[in-house]
Amino acid sequence: MNAAEPPPEQKDTRILMIEDDIADAELVKFALREAGLAFDLRCVDNKEDFLEELEHGDPDIVLSDYALPSFDGLSALRLAKQKRPELPFIFVTGTLGEELAIETLKNGATDYVLKTRLSRLVPAVHRARREAEERVERRHAEEKLRESHEQLRALSIYLQHVREEERTRIAREVHDELGQELTGLKFDLSSLAAWLPRDQRQFQDDIKAMLAQIDAIIQTVRRISTELRPSVLDDLGLAAAIEWQTHEFQTRTGLQSHITLDVQSPVIDQELNTAFFRIFQETLTNVMRHASATKLDVRLTQEAGKLVLEVKDNGRGISEAQMASSRSIGLLGMRERAALLGGEFHIRGVAGKGTTVTVRIPLRRAAPNNGQREHENPNHRRSRRGAPRVEANPCH
Ligand SMILES: Nc1ncnc2c1ncn2[C@@H]1O[C@H](COP(=O)(O)OP(=O)(O)O)[C@@H](O)[C@H]1O
Ligand SMILES: [Mg+2]
Repeated sequence: MNAAEPPPEQKDTRILMIEDDIADAELVKFALREAGLAFDLRCVDNKEDFLEELEHGDPDIVLSDYALPSFDGLSALRLAKQKRPELPFIFVTGTLGEELAIETLKNGATDYVLKTRLSRLVPAVHRARREAEERVERRHAEEKLRESHEQLRALSIYLQHVREEERTRIAREVHDELGQELTGLKFDLSSLAAWLPRDQRQFQDDIKAMLAQIDAIIQTVRRISTELRPSVLDDLGLAAAIEWQTHEFQTRTGLQSHITLDVQSPVIDQELNTAFFRIFQETLTNVMRHASATKLDVRLTQEAGKLVLEVKDNGRGISEAQMASSRSIGLLGMRERAALLGGEFHIRGVAGKGTTVTVRIPLRRAAPNNGQREHENPNHRRSRRGAPRVEANPCH
């Protein structure tokens, strides 16, 4: 609000009146004045003047007769709803049958007052204005809420993106730089061992122990870098990464896992790959932490332009309450990740039978980002020893 502008309750109420009878108009003004309302009233009796006042006069409220010789109240109401939907509109009429009264309210009129009961007019004006203000305030509040929700979404996209980029960068640096340094150190130590006379047994043993320790550190570095972001996801694609992750999971938990991969076209969308992979990891963590399952069934398929991941366990089954709980931040995050790419996330559970997570995200026809490789090998059917069983697709 402008600083010079008085608050609404101190301003004169700008009334736009539709009335063709001068005596009636005077009667209404009298009733308004009598009730102590400070107002500024414009009176019109035809469509053109009404439109002009509606668009340029900035009225706070319309008081309209119902039947006029050249114009009628219902058309005026319709015009007002079109041009200024929030503007309160009260019919002030000589007579109005019950049916017509209902009709006007159905068409969006705020109220109606009979000319024989004008004492009702000012309270009706006050109430109409208050309600209109409340509606405007509510709309503003809703808009603000929507805006802040959109900002939160944008922030969430940004944070996920930054996080993923950061993880990829750290994974690479840890792997490449630390890995190379350690390999160099190992090489130097081996050279030193070759230099040392054979009879220096104590030193030889120390060096051997150090070499074993460096090997262990190299393994740790590899593991950390892979956990940050498995290079298989970027190098071989989503199907390979899912297979690899399932294998890791099976090794770690002993859960009997079965995978079906049926992806027909290459997925070159890194964001999509990342979303699927992170949702998959979170789902596996949930299976490990909450399901008490003995079997896991993973399917990555493609249907009608969408990539679909289904993860089914045979554990205790998630309950309705757990699904709906506001504390289920993990589920919320997965749902949000899928929604950000225009997809859906579903989880359902049957008590004692298990839980199924389904993620469905449309394949976008996005051009590959700069420097990105193809992330999916469509014919990826490698089966490693000890790896979970991969079912071949009969269509390929
Ligand atoms: N596979 C599952 N089997 C049984 N319960 C599950 C499964 N996945 C999730 N849940 C239930 O849903 C809840 C919410 O999961 P989540 O949002 O990931 O939170 P968190 O894992 O941090 O508890 C879990 O606490 C658990 O009770
Ligand atoms: Mg969780």
